[in-house]
Amino acid sequence: MLHINHLSFASPFVLAPLAGYSDLPFRLLCRQFGAGYCVSEMISCHGLVYQQENTLRMLASIAKERPVAFQLFGADPEVMADAAEIMASFGPDMLDINMGCPVRKVTKRGAGAALMADPRLAEAILTRIVSRVSLPITVKIRAGKDSHSINAPAFARMLEESGASAITVHARTWSQGFSGHIDKDIISQVKKAVSIPVIGNGDVLSYQEGRQMLEQTGCDGVMIGRGALGNPWVFQQAGRPDALGEIVAGAHAHLALIEQFLPAEKILGYIKNHMSRYFKGLPGSSALRQAIFTAPNLASVKQQLEPVRL
Ligand SMILES: Cc1cc2nc3c(=O)[nH]c(=O)nc-3n(C[C@H](O)[C@H](O)[C@H](O)COP(=O)(O)O)c2cc1C
Repeated sequence: MLHINHLSFASPFVLAPLAGYSDLPFRLLCRQFGAGYCVSEMISCHGLVYQQENTLRMLASIAKERPVAFQLFGADPEVMADAAEIMASFGPDMLDINMGCPVRKVTKRGAGAALMADPRLAEAILTRIVSRVSLPITVKIRAGKDSHSINAPAFARMLEESGASAITVHARTWSQGFSGHIDKDIISQVKKAVSIPVIGNGDVLSYQEGRQMLEQTGCDGVMIGRGALGNPWVFQQAGRPDALGEIVAGAHAHLALIEQFLPAEKILGYIKNHMSRYFKGLPGSSALRQAIFTAPNLASVKQQLEPVRL
């Protein structure tokens, strides 16, 4: 069983922070399908301290999705600590600090994966946050800057000493972005380097691959990102059903949650993107995906997904 501080999770499988995807409806869905907990999209520390409406909207949560972690990104220790306090006041169970995002608009300001190249700044950020917030603070890192500067084990040890309650390792380097393969050995090395829980991450596409990662690396939990898109069944041993009707039912359940919690008619493009992922790669589904993409409104998307139509 995965434990982080006083929290115990029913499953060691965790939904990754996914900008544009891991919002309240998708987190609720993944929890219903068995995720131990879910992590929000990355949320800007500046957006929080300036109380920007779009940023505050990302903190929407309900009791049913708990335990939940909100993820914070930024590079200024004072602003990060102020933002962490604001974030904590919205009632999550944990805060996660993003020290792994390779996207240029994040790293050019010294945040995300750039913090792995500046351990002192990373330490200052974490220390400041831990001194201001009493929730467990987890940190998501990568293997290192590039293949010549793998520093995840030493970096993780520094984070543990600075008060982190768990570490997630996406076992790619910053310079790899999302290309190439993960190096599972990095996860084993981090696990050996610290005594707090370690969550392995990268390229897990099924429950069985998740179990393999647990066994091969000794990690305590497994975080799943892209493998969960259009596939919340990844959190269940039986995996994605074969029957198209069951897949449609899953997509329908997701859509119902989107409608309940988001201004659905305003986000038609986002809905189409999520919905079409359920059918990606399924034989004979190209007409259905095409119909979803060309649907003029939400009612039409829903019509495509009516189970009785199959
Ligand atoms: C569309 C997308 C959005 C992402 N957004 C975030 C994010 O907000 N914060 C973060 O730490 N990582 C983010 N990531 C990285 C994932 O959390 C994860 O580390 C990475 O995708 C590797 O795991 P996977 O192979 O299971 O997808 C994102 C990845 C993708 C594909």
